[in-house]
Formats: sequence, structure tokens, C-alpha cells
Amino acid sequence: MLSSPLTLDDSLATFAARFGASRELAIRGRRVIPGGYSRQSFNFGPHAIFAAGGEGAYVTTVDGHRLLDLNNNFTVNVLGHSDAGVQAATRAALEDGVSFGNPVMLEVDLADLLVDRIASIDKVQFSCSASESGMTAVRIARAFTGKDRIAKFEGGYHGFTDPLQISWHPHDEPASGPDHEPASIPDSAGVPLSNAENVLVLTQNDYAGTERLLRAHAGELACVILELESASGGLVTLERSFVEMLRSVTEELGILLIFDETVTLRAGFHGMQASYGVAPDLTVMGKIIGGGFPLGAVGGSAEVMNVLDSGAVSVSGTHHGHKVALAAGLATMRALTPSAFDRLNAMAGCVMSELNEWAASQGSRFAVYGAGMSHLAYGVMREPGLAIRTHRDYWRHLDADATQTCSIELANRGFFPVARGDFSLSLAMTDDDIASFIETTRAIVADMKI
Ligand SMILES: Cc1ncc(COP(=O)(O)O)c(C=O)c1O
Repeated sequence: MLSSPLTLDDSLATFAARFGASRELAIRGRRVIPGGYSRQSFNFGPHAIFAAGGEGAYVTTVDGHRLLDLNNNFTVNVLGHSDAGVQAATRAALEDGVSFGNPVMLEVDLADLLVDRIASIDKVQFSCSASESGMTAVRIARAFTGKDRIAKFEGGYHGFTDPLQISWHPHDEPASGPDHEPASIPDSAGVPLSNAENVLVLTQNDYAGTERLLRAHAGELACVILELESASGGLVTLERSFVEMLRSVTEELGILLIFDETVTLRAGFHGMQASYGVAPDLTVMGKIIGGGFPLGAVGGSAEVMNVLDSGAVSVSGTHHGHKVALAAGLATMRALTPSAFDRLNAMAGCVMSELNEWAASQGSRFAVYGAGMSHLAYGVMREPGLAIRTHRDYWRHLDADATQTCSIELANRGFFPVARGDFSLSLAMTDDDIASFIETTRAIVADMKI
């Protein structure tokens, strides 16, 4: 253990020495790409870590390091990298033409699989990303209800499209409004204020405030869209009774309920919604359903989805339902058997209990949190024992600098999480991988003296 606490500056100095080739590429990239790479979420502290390849549970970097991949392309790689079954299916799909102005059978096959697994889904429509499918879901809801405004939760992320990139990370108080009636704030310059006016923003797990706002605005609201666990807004888990309340109130008021299961689909064979026993009208999907290729989908009851059949609602994209993505997605979803989900959730439970019990025994501010599925987060709280029940708890309770130090330091010691502290597990991980992650995290927390 170090004699003085490990600081963010110490970790950044080590990072600079270890990831010099990535830094050079980022500098080269900045000459021709704003920011150096096309995806801003690639940022990891001072710059992205450039990948050279991936095998099983590990990503190799251009700097010559082999890191246990806890990022897994932001939860996509549920089987790990270069899975043999997915590779074989992808190679087969590359034979005999990849791009057609015709549908292919794989589209029907994957739709069938999703309909079979997810009780609330009778019909599915594919796109290239969950951002697009989230936008489609909103369009369907507007067309179905004849109403224009939508409701979403503060801290919820549903892709980067104009209708939905609202109040995802509104960390400024008092601009973000009162706790029980959050302001609607565009998350990006360029998102029109008029879009924010079209969005009613709600607070997670706020029973009275949410019901009051929904009743007050029922005549204008087409839908409520939510994540059962907010993937990039602090892993806030919605309580079961809160989601049950939302289901009954939206049903009574003629508002569609949309679950964004882009990330939470990795929680179980029937989606996370099955563990709540609540059926939404529409479900947005992405990430794992494309097996590492770009694929999004929206599914729902036949009654609602059939607005796409009428021709009144127009949705179209050149690459929607792309053959190779469908093949990779189908192979991935078929590999995700009930016992595969059990293994993922058991690994998550082990990480969570081992680290939390140890942290509590040390009186540490460090915690692992989330619903307990294979996408989790670690964080350093401002005080030991603080819990996160709303997005505001996340920004008020979390020591962001210390949490970032953990992330940078994990990269320095052979692991690659998401910079903000969330991480996901893959079936390619072994018990030894999980044990070494737990041991290294404990060593970092001890060195930071938190
Ligand atoms: C819950 C959720 N919905 C939607 C999206 C958007 O997905 P995509 O980046 O595939 O457009 C994301 C992406 O991280 C997400 O986490």
C-alpha cells in the first residue's frame, strides 16, 4: 500500500506513460476528425484508448496492453470478443451478397426470436441503432395517440436524437429545477428549445410527483419512455411498485408506456421487464441484439405496432435490417440461453457482494451499485453508505474525481471500464478474471485511502 493517498494526478501521469501510442493517434485523429474520433463517449480521461483487437474477455490496445474488457463496447459484447459462433454466422452472411433492396429471412428469424422471448412484443421493426428505434417508438406513440408531447425521466438516455436528448445530464442547480418537477433541458447545443418544451421531465422513483405531473398533462402526452435501470445516468433502478404505478396510471390516462431495454435486455432471457411483471406498450432494443454490428429495434403489441402497417407512419432507412447485423445478432441471442443469463447474473452478484462487503468492513466510501445484473457501476460516494435512488442522488452523492481516479487506475492496472464508472461483464470472462478484478479494485481503493 502507498504511504500517501493515490490521486487523480498520479493516475494520469501513469496513464500518460502507458498509453502514449493512443495519445499520438488521438492527436493525429484531431487533425481530420473533430475531437479525434467520431464517438465522444470514447473519451477516457485525457483521450481514448485505441483498440488494436479483441479476443475473448480481453481488448488489446495500440499501446501493446491487454486489458480485461469491462466496457464491452458499452454493454454490447455480452459474449466477449470474436465469439466463434458469431464469427461463423457473420462469415456465412458475408457470402452471397450483403446488401439488397429486398428483405432477408434472417429478419423474420430474429423478429420471431424476440417475439417468442418477450411477452409484451407481438411485432418488431428493425433499424441500425437504438437511437433510431427510440425515435421511431416516439413517432409510433404520437401517431397512435394523436398527442405530441412525451415524458421521460431525468437522467434517462434514449440516444442522441433531437426529440429525446433532453435532461440526460442536467447537473446545474438551480437551472435543473425543483426535485419534484425537473426542468426540461436540451443536453446539447443544437437541440432546439422547442424540443425541450415538448418533453415533460419526471423524477425516478418519485411516486407522488410523477403521478401528479402525468395527470396534469395527460391530455398532451403520447408516451412515457423509461429505462428500468438508467444505463448512463447513474444506474438508478426503478422500484417495482413505481413501475406498476406507472403502468396503471398511463393505461388509465391513454398514455403509451415505452421501456428502453437497449441495455437491460442483458438482464434476463425475457428482458428485464419480466422481472417486474409489467408489460409496456413498446420496447426499444439495441446493443446485444446486433451481436457487435449496428442494429436497433422497436417492438410492441400488434395493436400499437400496426400503425407502421397502415402506411400513415413513415419509417425507412437504407441499412435497416442489415443482413450481417441480423446474422450476428441472431447467433448472439441464440447463445444467450437461460443458463447463460444465470452465469452473467451470478458473476455480477459475486462482484457486487464481495466488493461491497469488503468496502463496508473498511468503512470505505467506495461502493458497487445497480440492480445486480451484468451491467453495474462502482463509485466513490461523498460519505460511506449513501445510496442512489434518483439521478440527483447520483450527481449529489458521487465524488466524480475520485471515481474517475478508480477508472484511470483500473486501466493502468490492466482493466478497461467505462470512464464514468459503469462496467459490464461478458460470458468470455472466467472466475479468475472476476477474482482479479475484485482484488485489483480493492488494492486501488486501499491506495486511494477512501
Ligand atoms: C438505454 C439506451 N438507449 C438508447 C441508446 C442509444 O443507442 P445507440 O447508441 O445504439 O443509438 C443507448 C446507448 O447507449 C442506451 O444506453
